Amino acid sequence: MIDKIKAYIYEVERFTTDNTEDLEQFRIQYLGKKGILNTFFAEFKNVPNEQKKEFGKTINELKVSAQSKVEQLKSEIASKIEDKGLYGDLSRPGEPLEIGARHPISLVKNRITTIFSNIGFNVSEGPEIEDDWHNFSALNLPEYHPARDMQDTFFIQTDPKDILLRTHTSSVQVRYMENNEPPIRTISPGRVFRNEDISARSHCIFHQVEGLYIDKNVSFKDLKQTLIYFTQELFGKSKIRLRPSYFPFTEPSAEVDIYWGLETETDYRITKGTGWLEIMGCGMVDPNVLKNCDIDPKEYSGFAFGMGIERIAMLLYQIGDIRMFYENDVRFLKQFKSSL
Ligand code: PHE
Repeated sequence: MIDKIKAYIYEVERFTTDNTEDLEQFRIQYLGKKGILNTFFAEFKNVPNEQKKEFGKTINELKVSAQSKVEQLKSEIASKIEDKGLYGDLSRPGEPLEIGARHPISLVKNRITTIFSNIGFNVSEGPEIEDDWHNFSALNLPEYHPARDMQDTFFIQTDPKDILLRTHTSSVQVRYMENNEPPIRTISPGRVFRNEDISARSHCIFHQVEGLYIDKNVSFKDLKQTLIYFTQELFGKSKIRLRPSYFPFTEPSAEVDIYWGLETETDYRITKGTGWLEIMGCGMVDPNVLKNCDIDPKEYSGFAFGMGIERIAMLLYQIGDIRMFYENDVRFLKQFKSSL
């Protein structure tokens, strides 16, 4: 009989629950009127005298441990209920935090700057509100130069026409040359503004990355090799062609086309059936520009290039309308979530 009581004590010690009904069940089973304890107490008179002492002691142990178990679980359950009131169920699984997505323009800008920083270019930035000198004159575009019309400008100050929203980040390159000695290797990403009609293909605000390399004995072949490296890294394609072009600040100047291929219907559409796509402008920095920035063109030469980030992003992500970048439609932005 004593062993039986000891077995019950063991069971009581192991018992646990986190709900009130089970605990009440347990209480009735042990401590209730017709419970285990009372059954044993009723047995007491039938126990032989010499065992009475030990029997009494053991049964008391069972009573104490059942009572304290009930108290302990009661307060545990009560404190859990209290927590629930304050914080909800603390044991529930966590809700994953929604992680935002980088804007595709930032993604592409970061990729481009990383590619160039891997070959020693640093990143330079400058103001969006510029003066005539840094946006035009220093870049070999004196007043009344017809090429100023190539970039329809938003003027902030019109009399005289001096303060404006920069039309390209070449203005940053001018500032960089004014403040740094060659060798210069710098990438200037940033937002630019042009007074153009908004359509699927063009916008009055867009982003550029321009690059500048100035050192002794820099030649056109260095430019070409840099472009091949860049297109290979960004697009995984390095078949390019350079078409003669004109920019006032470079001489000679070229437009860079990349061979995109004609494998899919989209390839046909975006390359207008030619397989070739224009991706940027470039050239050898005009000696006049170097002079304007106090760099001796007899000692130094360099190359520059510039591209529109939107255009590149549209190619990489197959986006058909430039306006998508500025509408902040979360359904559009969410699609870039997994990218870095
Ligand atoms: N600044 C030119 C533009 O905005 C791009 C360019 C940069 C071309 C450097 C040649 C060299 O169109």
